[in-house]
Amino acid sequence: MKTELLTEDHGDRFERVSAWLMQGLPVALPTETVYGLGADASNPKAIASVFEAKERPLFDPLIVHLPSSLLSENNDWLQELSQRGWIDISAHSAQRLGQLRQLSQAFWPGPLTLVLPKGKAVNELITGGLDTVALRVPAHPHFQKVLQMSQTFLCAPSANRFQHISPTRSEDVLDELSGRIPGVLDGGACAVGVESTVLSFPAEGSPSILRHGQVSAEHIKACIDVLPECSAQFSTEHHNKDTIDAPGQMLTHYAPNKPFFYLSKALDSASWPRVQRQLKGLGQDTSTVALLLTERRRDSFLKQQSSLGEQLCQVIALNQQDSSSSNEIDRNAAKELFGSLRQLEQGPAKLLLCDPYPQRPGIAHAIRDRLLKATSHRTLDLD
Ligand code: TXA
Ligand code: MG
Repeated sequence: MKTELLTEDHGDRFERVSAWLMQGLPVALPTETVYGLGADASNPKAIASVFEAKERPLFDPLIVHLPSSLLSENNDWLQELSQRGWIDISAHSAQRLGQLRQLSQAFWPGPLTLVLPKGKAVNELITGGLDTVALRVPAHPHFQKVLQMSQTFLCAPSANRFQHISPTRSEDVLDELSGRIPGVLDGGACAVGVESTVLSFPAEGSPSILRHGQVSAEHIKACIDVLPECSAQFSTEHHNKDTIDAPGQMLTHYAPNKPFFYLSKALDSASWPRVQRQLKGLGQDTSTVALLLTERRRDSFLKQQSSLGEQLCQVIALNQQDSSSSNEIDRNAAKELFGSLRQLEQGPAKLLLCDPYPQRPGIAHAIRDRLLKATSHRTLDLD
């Protein structure tokens, strides 16, 4: 199958995308977080084709993407989705439903996914056998236009091959899925750059963050006065299981196809011999090494790079812009994160290293989480 890249030059691009979707084919679409692989959420064949194109195991559930028309002033999305059999909110108290409405008002359309008990209409393939369903209203206008034209909900995982780096530009999707899907709708570079925050909101017990994203625990607390738990911690127990109960529990995710190590301290000429010794001890080939710099030390690092020797053949800095606000720095870093990992993967080095990302709340938390998973939590201890 030839994969077409549909850009602004294609005047009929939205009609063509909707036609493919209605035929049950998966199409890559831009969202504000990462590119998604959209498919008609009411067509089992279409849903199955998403898993096939991504080579994704069937136990890993999909997020259902909803049109922003559900949020119009005289509509209650919770009641509508409940009546249509997508969610079951019968056990949720009025207070909890009120909190859900506050969250949707504050963060939808946008990078927040809510996990609620599922209703009878939800196809099992979407939920991977779980009794909950994940929902979000994406903010990208192209995605919204496609939802509106297709008159259906779309399930959409990130448009990458299973466990590989998520795509944040249409070219990245072509690298991932060319020949497997009919088309990619171009919508420019994704504004956020990391996937949505996934928040589980059960009828009883605390809401909990299953995956970190731009909407942080602090943002949620400010909105509903409840600080969610963070259950997005890594757990080896879940590795290699054939079911999961929350995302982000797999050891490897977002990973480049090269050995990749997280450093417990930023690399410099003093720690470099130790890093090399540790890597050799692990049986790694250190003849060509690349580094992802995560702090604002590009200039000072470049000055000492020559003292590290020729093995260090590529250095990429996540935070290229000069900014005084760490919030802005983190947002820029998030936007550049997956693209930088792709550059490292395509670069000359056989082995990749990554400085630690500063421990800050907010989207910095999401960046650290992605880097740790991309390195499969293989950390070199330099303390
Ligand atoms: O930003 C995003 O969320 C992107 C864009 C395309 O919308 N989508 C995305 O989908 O990241 P995906 O499939 O790559 O990641 C969705 C995560 C998975 O790790 C999955 O396990 C989790 O959400 N998930 C889906 N349904 C769930 C459920 N019912 N309970 C717990 N986790 C769920
Ligand atoms: Mg994904």
